[in-house]
Amino acid sequence: MHFQLSEEQLAVQQAARDFAQTELLPGVIERDTHQKFPAEQIRKMGELGFMGMMVDPKYNGGGMDTISYVLAMEEISKIDASASVCMSVNNSLVCWGLEKYGSEEQKEKYLKRLATGEVVGAFCLSEPEAGSDATSQRTTAEDKGDYYLLNGTKNWITNGNSASVYIVIAQTDPEKKHKGINALIVEKGMPGFVVGKKEDKMGIRGSDTHSLMFTDVKVPKANRIGADGFGFSFAMTTLNGGRIGIAAQALGIAAGAYELAVKYAKERKAFGKHLSEHQAIQFKLADMATQIDAARLLIHKAAFFKDQGRDFVQAAAMAKLFASQVAQDVTTEAVQIHGGYGYVKEYHVERLMRDAKITQIYEGTTEIQKMVISRELLK
Ligand code: CAA
Ligand code: FAD
Repeated sequence: MHFQLSEEQLAVQQAARDFAQTELLPGVIERDTHQKFPAEQIRKMGELGFMGMMVDPKYNGGGMDTISYVLAMEEISKIDASASVCMSVNNSLVCWGLEKYGSEEQKEKYLKRLATGEVVGAFCLSEPEAGSDATSQRTTAEDKGDYYLLNGTKNWITNGNSASVYIVIAQTDPEKKHKGINALIVEKGMPGFVVGKKEDKMGIRGSDTHSLMFTDVKVPKANRIGADGFGFSFAMTTLNGGRIGIAAQALGIAAGAYELAVKYAKERKAFGKHLSEHQAIQFKLADMATQIDAARLLIHKAAFFKDQGRDFVQAAAMAKLFASQVAQDVTTEAVQIHGGYGYVKEYHVERLMRDAKITQIYEGTTEIQKMVISRELLK
C-alpha cells in the first residue's frame, strides 16, 4: 500500500484547483443568490476534459481513473458544489452507464457528445412517490413493438433543464416488479416531454433541479439501455459509482470550509491573540482535519476498488455515508469559527454549510447507505 499520487493524478488535481479558483470562484455567490446555472463554466469544464473524465478516448473521454475523478471533484466542490453536481451526474450517472452498458450506436450518438460536455446529461430515477423506495416506479414504458410509450413524472432531476440527453427509468412489466423496469434514453424536444418547475432550494442553488413530465412520448427501442428488464439493475449499478462522486463532493465542501476556517483563524484576533492561538479553536481545527482525512481515505479506497475491478458497493456506500456527515460537521464548525462573519454570504462558509446538507439526501439518503452497508455485511 502506498499513499502517493501519480504525476498524472497530481496534474489533474492542480488543473481542477486552478480552474476552480479562476473560473468558478468569481460569481459563485451571485449564482447562488440568483439560482443561476453555471452554463459557461460547465462548457469550459467540458473543454478541459472534466465532463467525461473516465470515458475511453475513443468516445472523446479523458481515459482517466476514478482516483483522478475524485481528486477533480474535490477541488471543484471546494469552490462550487453546484458545478460539481452537474459534473458528477454527467460523469458517473450518465457517461459511465452509457459506456458500460450502452450499444455501440448509443455511444456514437450520445456518449461522444456527453463526454466532451458539448451536451449535458441527466439521470432520472426519482419520482414524487418513489425516492428511497426506488423499485416503486410509477412511470410506465409500454412496449409497442419498435418503440416504448413513456408516461409519468420524474422529480428532483439535476440538470433538469440544462440537459439534452436524459436516462429515464420506467416500469414496463409491473408483474415482474423491479425485473420489469427499463432504462431509456430520452432526448429533449421529443414530443410529449415537458420540463416542469424549477425547485427553489436551500443549497446547490446554481444547479437546476426540475420535475419532468412525459405524456405518450415515443421512445425508439434502439434507445433502451441493455436487455429488456435490465433498467433497475442498471440504475443501482450506476449509482454505486455515483455515490463515490457525491462522497467526493461532500469531501470538497468540507475541505473548502476547513481551508477558509484555518485562514480566518490565523487572521482574526480576539482577546489579544489570533483565534488560532486559542486552544479551543485549535482543537476544532484538529477534529475537522482528522474527519476530512478519514473521509478522503474511505473515498480513495472505494475509487481504488472500482479501478481494480473489485466489488465496491459497500466501500462506496461507506464513503458517502461518512463524507456527507463530515461535510455537515465541518461546515458547521467553519461557520462557528468565523463568528458573525460566518453567517453572511461574503465569507462563503454559510453557502458551504447549506450545500453540505444535500449530500446526505441525494444518490441515496444516509439511511439508505446504512441499508446498503448492512445488507452487504450480512449477506
Ligand atoms: N448495487 C447493485 N444492485 C443493487 C444494489 C446496489 N447497490 N442495491 C440493490 N440492488 C439490486 C438487488 O440486488 C436486487 O436485485 P436482484 O433481485 O436481481 O437480486 C434489486 O436491486 C432490488 O434490491 P432490493 O431487493 O434490496 O430492493 P429494496 O426495494 O429492498 O431496496 C434500495 C433497494 C437499495 C433501497 C434501492 O431502492 C435504493 O438504492 N434506493 C435509493 C435510490 C437512490 O439512490 N436514488 C438516487 C437517485 S439519483 C440522484 O439522486 C442523483 C443526484 O442527486 C445528483
Ligand atoms: P423519501 O424516500 O420519502 O425519504 C424520506 C426520509 O425517510 C429520508 O430520511 C429517508 O432516508 C427515510 N427513509 C425512507 N425509507 C426508509 C427506510 N426503509 N428505512 C429508514 N428510513 C427510510 N433523483 C434522481 O433520480 N435524479 C437526480 O438527478 C436527482 N437530483 C436531486 C437533486 C436534489 C437537489 C434533490 C433534493 C434530490 C435529487 N434527487 C434526484 C432525488 C433524491 O435522490 C431523493 O430525494 C432521495 O433519494 C430521497 O427520496 P425522497 O426525497 O423521496 O425521500
